[in-house]
Amino acid sequence: MAIVNRFQSELLLFRGSLPRSDDASLPNAPSADNIPLLFHPFTIKDLTIPNRIVVAPMCMYSSLDGFFTNFHLASIGSFAINGAGLIQEASAVLPNGRITPECAGLWDDAQVFKLKEVVDFVHVQGGKVSIQLAHAGRKYPESAFWPEDMSAPSGGAHLQWDKHHRVPREWSLVRSNRSLMPLRTDHYGGSLENRARFLLKVVKAMRANFPAEKPIFLRVSASDLVEEIAKWARDADVDVLHVSSGGNASQQKILTSPGYQVPFAEQIKRAVPGLAVVAVGIILHGPLEEEVLKSEKADLVAAGRTCLRHPNFALNAARELNVKAAFSQQYSRGRTIHN
Ligand SMILES: Cc1cc2nc3c(=O)[nH]c(=O)nc-3n(C[C@H](O)[C@H](O)[C@H](O)COP(=O)(O)O)c2cc1C
Repeated sequence: MAIVNRFQSELLLFRGSLPRSDDASLPNAPSADNIPLLFHPFTIKDLTIPNRIVVAPMCMYSSLDGFFTNFHLASIGSFAINGAGLIQEASAVLPNGRITPECAGLWDDAQVFKLKEVVDFVHVQGGKVSIQLAHAGRKYPESAFWPEDMSAPSGGAHLQWDKHHRVPREWSLVRSNRSLMPLRTDHYGGSLENRARFLLKVVKAMRANFPAEKPIFLRVSASDLVEEIAKWARDADVDVLHVSSGGNASQQKILTSPGYQVPFAEQIKRAVPGLAVVAVGIILHGPLEEEVLKSEKADLVAAGRTCLRHPNFALNAARELNVKAAFSQQYSRGRTIHN
């Protein structure tokens, strides 16, 4: 059986021309005018995402020596089969930058092969995939296997996450200065410029080593970063800001409700023209995603736990918004029993 690229077929369907053969019998196929924004493609540099639905990065603690496994193929693959536009996956940049020994990593060329298998699968299904380069910092659990090298941007007993985590050793390069952490006075602490220095160094190093035509997404915690830093990130050629919040201190009590982080995304989107924005945080259904996009609070909308609960979140969103999203070719019979 020939495998049809869902992205190609989706474009055909959404252009209102030449619907896929298995879509031809469907009533009310959308024309370009009445397609919900959520199902419009999104292009940034040379990347075109077939719709605005993003699966937020979620470490799955299912790697072996940092290698992606069949679990990742099945998990990420199921999001792709079920219509997610962009799937983001976390990966540690160093063995001792993992939260647990089971976290995925990307510090050895050999790790690329399994990763490529996953990426190729997503592409065949018409989706896109991106990798989150991550470092656990001081979120080392007590059981970490590399106690002799537990480093983080800031160190010391006062920065221990909680009693189940080890006391981090400070990176000699940098100490950060965040709202819930003690102030410092070197050129990585104090003023906003100083506190943004390390972040922008990383962004610039990435940009210098990554093709200019490919977009860089930056995930920020909006409760301790401000629009000014978003502007600097844009000027350093970050293309998309993925706006989360909090999570930097165990004593934080974050009040959550559907869409609770959307106002942060909106604030940054309004303040920083030219920077695309992803909103995330208890986005439970398609109509909420559509509302966020329609009111121009964000350009893309990400869901994390909802996708764990409903890997077919994108197809559900399509049904809720009364649009016929293209199915994976292999699953296309599934739509013959209802819309
Ligand atoms: C199991 C799990 C693992 C996560 N791992 C990461 C991660 O590796 N990197 C990250 O930036 N966020 C991570 N997150 C946070 C999510 O990306 C997301 O921001 C958060 O869950 C809020 O979105 P939600 O309400 O849609 O779940 C994780 C969340 C969950 C539930």
